[in-house]
Order: sequence, then structure tokens, then C-alpha cells
Amino acid sequence: MKRRTFLQQTSLAAAALALPQSVKAFVPAIKNKVRLGFIATGFRGQTHIEEMLKRSDVEIIALADPDPRMINDALKLIEKAGWPQPAVYQNGPTDYLNLLERADIDAVFVSSPWEWHLPHGIAAMKAGKIVGMEVGGAMNLADCWEYVNTSERTQVPIMPLENVCYRRDVMAIFNMVKQGLFGEIVHAQGGYEHDLRGVLFNDGQSAYNSGVEFGKKGYSEAAWRTNHYLNRNGELYPTHGLGPVATMLDLNRGNRLLRLSSFSSKAKGLHQYIVNHPKGGPMHPNANLVFEQGDVVTTQLQCANGETIILTHDTSLQRPYNLGFRVQGTKGIWQDFGWGDPEQGHIYFEDSMKHSHRWDNTQKWLEQYDHPLWKVNAQAAESSGHGGMDYFVDNAFIECIKQNKPFPLDVYDLATWYAITPLSELSIKQNGAPQDIPDFTRGSFKNRQPIFGKDGEY
Ligand SMILES: NC(=O)c1ccc[n+]([C@@H]2O[C@H](COP(=O)([O-])OP(=O)(O)OC[C@H]3O[C@@H](n4cnc5c(N)ncnc54)[C@H](O)[C@@H]3O)[C@@H](O)[C@H]2O)c1
Repeated sequence: MKRRTFLQQTSLAAAALALPQSVKAFVPAIKNKVRLGFIATGFRGQTHIEEMLKRSDVEIIALADPDPRMINDALKLIEKAGWPQPAVYQNGPTDYLNLLERADIDAVFVSSPWEWHLPHGIAAMKAGKIVGMEVGGAMNLADCWEYVNTSERTQVPIMPLENVCYRRDVMAIFNMVKQGLFGEIVHAQGGYEHDLRGVLFNDGQSAYNSGVEFGKKGYSEAAWRTNHYLNRNGELYPTHGLGPVATMLDLNRGNRLLRLSSFSSKAKGLHQYIVNHPKGGPMHPNANLVFEQGDVVTTQLQCANGETIILTHDTSLQRPYNLGFRVQGTKGIWQDFGWGDPEQGHIYFEDSMKHSHRWDNTQKWLEQYDHPLWKVNAQAAESSGHGGMDYFVDNAFIECIKQNKPFPLDVYDLATWYAITPLSELSIKQNGAPQDIPDFTRGSFKNRQPIFGKDGEY
């Protein structure tokens, strides 16, 4: 049998076994073009639209967003690309339900505020639409089970669109982990260490660094994200840090998270920002607010196979961007300091570096172990957001649908990663008391095989 035919047949057979019924049902209808709806067309929704406008295998059928400014910005992108105008659902916060009733949509991108992820994702699966879900954290632990139960019951798959899993340095390190360069992995770190003060507050007109308003007076993320900082205290944004190390540690695929414990620092940064801003000051009404969210929240996690993970959420103070990855095994250690540029990391392998105890710069290592996916697709990804990684995550979503294959990141990953947020909130409330992390796979993690980054295709 020719290699290609064999691969096609075996992967189709595997897919037939592993895939939910609904995906199979979609295949004859999908043929070459995936017909898409977009729930929420804010900043992130628009980047997904821009990604899709580069492709010839999708159609943009409909958009839903109650904010006319965001809808218009999205429509302009589509018009500029010369694509047909999609149907628009902008009559309030529940008009997305009418988009979901359409029979001519196969899949939806959900890029809404965190508190809307659950209603959007669940309604979409119930309507039989495959879901690409933007990242965040759950509002409650029960929400995580609802994703799993609904996907299992409806047989409609949902993929968390965690783009950092596809960052070039992260994928090269993933490659090195899988080739055993670090030996047995013992510990990993990651996080979201990004000064968001100028995003959490603005003047309601322009998104960044333009004022100290939020909520109804804010624009884009200031309209909703800041309220989470006012009312919650936890690891609010776990997936950028956890997703990449989850694939390296085979979480939900031979390994799983067991428990976590979180601590929070005091909350000083956002108040200081309001007081010091030229449009704020000590007399500004927002200077009286008490923000619950600690400036630095640290979460320790324990894995079934004996590894530990530390996640850091650090978004309310001055600081340069850094997701703070560290991967450490019996033979080597990697530590990144920056936004993924190849020379921004440190690496050390005791044997090949002759026990020097000196860090090496990562550049040549990352080039040598560049992941096949990046080698093949670097050019296609060049113009895409976040250094190209947006290309890969969106491409994986569309290709899996077209090729009738299981998503490399699935509902069990989504539920597990999202669960970190409510469990960390609970742990902080209980002075750091450990919280058990449910096994959302109900035991099947023992036999589920890793598929992320396995081939050069997606
Ligand atoms: N992966 C990444 O790199 C990345 C980057 C930025 C944001 N995000 C995530 O994307 C999501 C959206 O963030 P954003 O920056 O686009 O925020 P945004 O505020 O710019 O956009 C959110 C949009 O959701 C719309 N919306 C609110 N309620 C809605 C409803 N009921 N139905 C339909 N639309 C509704 C708002 O009107 C707004 O247009 C969040 O989960 C965020 O964490 C991910």
C-alpha cells in the first residue's frame, strides 16, 4: 500500500473511531468549504476574521455582536477583502441564538467576554455547530462539566483556541521535550505576565492607555474584563501559561492534573494606575474602588505523573511582557524571558555543556529543533497575529473540521484549563488550601494518545 493511501486510511479509521458523530455527519455537507459564523466580533473576533479572509476553504456566513461599532469594523474587513457581506445579528445580547438557528453554518468562532463563553459555547453545541472557543477561565467549576457533558451528549466537538501552544519557541521546546533532550520532565512553569493596565482602563473611545474608565464607560476589554478584577481574585487567565506545558506533559493523555493551591498578593497596581493617570487622580470616582484581584497570583499544580507546575498571573503592575515559561527535566532546563523571540530564552543541558553551570542563549537550539509544523508553514504564518501563532491555531481548527479529524486540543483540555480559575479563587479564599482538580476524562486520560504536534500538518 502506498504510504499516503495507508496514512489516509489509517487516519480515517482512527478518526471514525474517535470522532463524535456530528463531525462525521458534517463531512458530506462541508466538502471543501467550512461555513462559518462569528459570535462576538470585537478585537479578537476580528483577528479570526482576518485569518479566515486569507483562506479559500471557508465562507463567512454570519456575525453576531450587540455592539454596532464592532460589527461595522468586522464588516469593513470583509468588504475590503472583496468577500460577500455576511448576515448580521446585532439586536442585543441574545441575537446570537438566531445566528445559531441557521442551517447553513457548520462552525462558529466564539470570541466573547469570559462570562459569555459558557452560554455561547453550550448553545452552539446544542445547535450542532462545531465550536472554536477563545481562551479564558470558567466562572464556576460546574461550567467546566457542562462543556464536557454537552459535547459528549450532542457529539459536537469544541476546540480551545490556545494560540500560545503554537508559539515557535514553545513548539521547538515541545519538540525537544518529545525527543528526550530534557530527560524526564519534573517541573514546568508558565503564566500571563503582561501589563494590562492600559487595556483594563480607557476613555471608552480608543482601546489603549487613553483613560481610567471601564464597564459601561469602557471600550473593548475595559468594558468587561475589569469587572472580573473588581469582583474576583484568582488565576483569571490560565490557558496561555498552562496550555503549552500541558501538551509537553501529556495532560489528559497519559497524565493529568490532580490538585492546585493558589496565593494572591495584595492589590495595589490598578488603584495606583487610576490615581497617577492624567485623566484620573485621587479625586476620580474610580480611585475609591477596591479591586479584589491581587496583583500577582501564584498557583501551584501537581500532576499524576509526579511533575509540578507553577502558573503566575501578573497583569496589574508595570512590567515587560513575559509568559515566564520554564521546563525542567533530569537532563536540561529552559527558561524564557520575553515574547518568544528566539534569543530571549536561556537553556542548559548539563551533558552537552560539560557541566559548566552556565546558561546558553536559546537561539541556535530553537533553530536546530524548529518544529516541522513551523518549518513547513512559516511563510504562510508570516503575516498572522501574535508572531504567526494565530495562523496555526486557526488552521488546526479548520483543517480538523475539513479532514474529519479530532482536534489536537479538545473539550477535556478546555474543561481542565478553565477549571483552574474557579479552583484558584476557592483556594485563595481558603488561605491556599489545596483543591482537587476533577478528571474530566472520567479515567480515559490513561489511554488517550497525545496528538498535538504529532505531524507536520496542523
Ligand atoms: N488568544 C489570544 O491571544 C487572545 C487575545 C485577545 C483576547 N482573547 C480572548 O478573546 C475573547 C474576546 O476578547 P477581545 O479582546 O476580543 O474583547 P473585546 O471586548 O474587544 O470583544 C468582545 C466582543 O464581545 C461582544 N459581546 C459581548 N456580549 C456578547 C453577546 N452576548 N453576544 C455576542 N457578542 C457579545 C462585545 O460587544 C465585543 O465586541 C476573550 O476571551 C479574550 O480573553 C484572546
